[in-house]
Amino acid sequence: MKILTVVGARPQFIKASVVSAALRPLCEELIVHTGQHYDQNMSDIFFEELGIPRPAYQLGVGSGSHGRQTGEMLIRVEEVIQREKPDILLVYGDTNSTLAGALAASKLHIPVAHVEAGLRSYNMRMPEEQNRVLTDHISTWLFCPTATARENLKKEGIEKGVSVTGDVMLDSVLHFLEVARANPKKRKIYEEVGVEPKRYRLATLHRAETTDGGVEAVTRIFRAFEQLPDPVLIPIHPRTRALAEESIRENGFSNIRLIAPVGYLEMLLLTSGACQVLTDSGGLQKEAYFMEVPCITLRSETEWVETLHGNWNVLADLTTEDILQKALHTTPDPAARSSKPFGDGHASEQIAHILCGA
Ligand code: UD1
Ligand code: UDP
Repeated sequence: MKILTVVGARPQFIKASVVSAALRPLCEELIVHTGQHYDQNMSDIFFEELGIPRPAYQLGVGSGSHGRQTGEMLIRVEEVIQREKPDILLVYGDTNSTLAGALAASKLHIPVAHVEAGLRSYNMRMPEEQNRVLTDHISTWLFCPTATARENLKKEGIEKGVSVTGDVMLDSVLHFLEVARANPKKRKIYEEVGVEPKRYRLATLHRAETTDGGVEAVTRIFRAFEQLPDPVLIPIHPRTRALAEESIRENGFSNIRLIAPVGYLEMLLLTSGACQVLTDSGGLQKEAYFMEVPCITLRSETEWVETLHGNWNVLADLTTEDILQKALHTTPDPAARSSKPFGDGHASEQIAHILCGA
């Protein structure tokens, strides 16, 4: 049994780290890195720190418009499939790398396995929504992180090949938070970035909906951050860096601390140590939820509706007033955490067993 795994963006390296570890004893896996993310701290650092096998293929596609980037990936993944003749092609999430991998395989009649199937924002303007809907409809195995995701697929007539395994990101948080906490060098991150645990807020911003509004849109968000009582630490995604720097320079904001993207181990420590998370990231919303850190999601909808229960996560419009109001006046309900909507932390093993028929 040979599995070809296609990854390309930061969250996919994190998800693949735990699934790869579960696949290793059961089958042969070859990793293909499309090159969608390529900076050292957006790519290599995850392979080095999380024990992910070196990619067998580096496609080096890099950045570009959606069509160019996806098209280049499609061409190069197809060549790899033709050479390797895998039994299964495995993809994660909803990026352009996900769609390109799935489409290349499907056209060559290689069955596709999709981890994080069934997620929906019902906002078809999002490139991610287009990628995930299309990928789900050409997948043979659909691994749902939640029961809601299975219901979403059912509404679209997809029931065959669907399993609710739980969320592989819960597996990775449970495993790597312990690893990070046990590492004295990593624990210095608070000192290194100049924050005190529980006396700062952590933010990330990278969605097209956020950055498409240019510096004005980022400034609307930053005006809210500036008025919060704790410093706001932002490991800034390269997509947003220039806009964020310009906004801070023009407005002289002093409560916002931009730092370069950090590795996953540091990020888990920074998330667990924050008194609040503010983000447009899909993955970070959930990590905050897993670690019981209140989260304000800077979007008008979320795919991860379970996190909204008990106000552990609340949605904020991208206006200064709404962000400030929600950030200052939301109190999560500790009693609302009894169920385990994201599984038991063993999603990766379940996926590996289903795929390898063990
Ligand atoms: C992509 C995914 C998004 C995911 C995110 C995770 C798509 C359509 N979007 O968004 O779903 O949430 O990854 O982080 O697939 N850049 C660099 N260095 C890098 C990578 C990117 O400088 O290593 C810059 C480039 O200017 C690039 C921009 O960031 O044009 C956007 O990168 P891209 O991969 O197209 O989209 P993301 O915003 O990262
Ligand atoms: N992350 C990280 N370093 C950072 C910022 C984020 O390791 O500087 C991790 C974060 O903990 C989460 C994942 O990257 O596991 C989320 O990726 P991102 O927000 O880029 O994408 P999304 O989840 O929105 O697709």
